[in-house]
Amino acid sequence: MSKPFQAKEKRIVNCKTVDVNQLMPMKYDWAWEHYLNGCHNNWMPEEVPMSRDIAQWKSGSLKEEERLVILRNLGFFSTAESLVGNNIVLAIFRHVTNPEARQYLLRQAFEEAIHTHAFHYIVDSLSLNPHEVFGMYNEINTIHNKDAFEMTLTEEVLKPGFTTETAEGLQSFLKNLIGYYVIMEGIFFYSGFAMILSFQRKNIMPGIGEQFQYILRDETIHLNFGIDLINTVKSENPEVWTPAFQEEVVAMVDKATWLEYMYAKECLPKGVLGLTSNLFLDYVRYIADRRLERIGLKPLYGSPNPFPWMSECIDLEKEKNFFETKVTQYRMGASLSW
Ligand SMILES: [Fe+2]
Ligand SMILES: [Fe+2]
Repeated sequence: MSKPFQAKEKRIVNCKTVDVNQLMPMKYDWAWEHYLNGCHNNWMPEEVPMSRDIAQWKSGSLKEEERLVILRNLGFFSTAESLVGNNIVLAIFRHVTNPEARQYLLRQAFEEAIHTHAFHYIVDSLSLNPHEVFGMYNEINTIHNKDAFEMTLTEEVLKPGFTTETAEGLQSFLKNLIGYYVIMEGIFFYSGFAMILSFQRKNIMPGIGEQFQYILRDETIHLNFGIDLINTVKSENPEVWTPAFQEEVVAMVDKATWLEYMYAKECLPKGVLGLTSNLFLDYVRYIADRRLERIGLKPLYGSPNPFPWMSECIDLEKEKNFFETKVTQYRMGASLSW
């Protein structure tokens, strides 16, 4: 029999003393909490009716610029979900040496598969050209630039000989976590969420809108888990969170904020339903400031939030009836809070 260990011996990375297969006793209750919250949010794309979307898409009632917003966002998200899933499995998982955090990563990887599945379902329902949608990240510069930014961070961790046991290695790993959780899922997804959910508020493509609501609900937990993970790596390894490294992180977020604004501009060349690219400059900066604060950095921009209704979409406490569809029937117990 192996010798019992104390939960306090567990470490989020570079754990040498505790077997990574032993979930209990747990140390990081937050990881388990996020795992349970994720499990309470089960949904399947096929449960969302697409008939109104199909009718709207085929009737020609949508303006050209409205179709562009939909297509660009399908193009970006359809592959971004796979990039996130692959990064978890190939780059993050093996370096997180803690079973409760891995339990969440397994759940998250499944959710990313469901999200990719949603784009398969949408492309299929609307009979869109799959090469156009899933190949858009190679064709549209502003999508390509966001994805290339992320892929470099994955490659860094996949280099032969990569280790989190040196200060540089751990900094690269932190950059990967920040690049995916704070930037990809916390900034790069948010213009698209705001665009598609504004369409939904006007009853345009409601089936796509509903799926984006579920994706946003999942992504809110991904972001929260990621921030806890990043802050735990930082607090257990304070020597790598140097002022110079913090500056590097702020520069990354600043660059990403610009890439996201350029993407919003490309989605909205003429403005649609009162949405203009200028509003997105404010919105992306507002979001970026909130993300910086959550990893202990000072906000950069001080921009106002042009879409206060978006926080209502995210904060379920305020919108108890927000998800009043059959998906809510899957929730187990009444303890769900997110
Ligand atoms: Fe996702
Ligand atoms: Fe995600």
